Amino acid sequence: MITIALPKGRIADDVLNLFAKMFGYDFAFVNRKLILQKDDFRFLLVRSQDVPIYVLYQAVDLGVVGLDVLEETGADIVRLLDLEIGKCKVVLGSKINEKIDYNKPQIKIATKMPNITRNFFSKRAIATDIIKLYGSIELAPLVGLSDAIVDIVETGNTMKENNLEIDEVILESSAYLIANRNSFYSKKHAILDIYNKLESLIKK
Ligand code: PRP
Repeated sequence: MITIALPKGRIADDVLNLFAKMFGYDFAFVNRKLILQKDDFRFLLVRSQDVPIYVLYQAVDLGVVGLDVLEETGADIVRLLDLEIGKCKVVLGSKINEKIDYNKPQIKIATKMPNITRNFFSKRAIATDIIKLYGSIELAPLVGLSDAIVDIVETGNTMKENNLEIDEVILESSAYLIANRNSFYSKKHAILDIYNKLESLIKK
């Protein structure tokens, strides 16, 4: 049995489609069920931020999660394969036509990714006050809560509609197949079979 944590939403659907192609089954979650079992596979539907936790504690063998979430969590897991889906960017953004004033003693940054933000600015020795929010990050500079934001951009529409622009791209993200370290050794054969099948599908 191989257990796999998938992040709720489009990535889960894309991954189930890949597995359907690989193994010739129809994989789909029904109703509000969070577990899907089919022969030798058990899929779990979890919040994307929780995927590395399930993998780290070996509640599952494998997981699929964005590189942004992996970098933010910093969990000690095996990164197996870039699935080249769920592409997005982590960016530093601020109000259009207003340069971030780096002469300030401290810059206020609103974000739901405090670790990525801290790493980015500490490498540049820029002092920041990181304000952790849980969503609608784009609001913060508009109401003076922060000078800038570090947030996810997919289409760029949310930033544009809120008169914000990208100052810098911090990270190019996509979804990765990850593995628990112990599972990777104890179930190496089955995991490498999945890895090889996924890789050949992606490279097509
Ligand atoms: C993410 C992100 C942006 C938006 C970007 O938020 O934080 O707000 O998507 O997408 P776009 O570039 O395609 O406009 P999400 O939808 O996950 O909601 P949240 O703010 O509640 O986390």
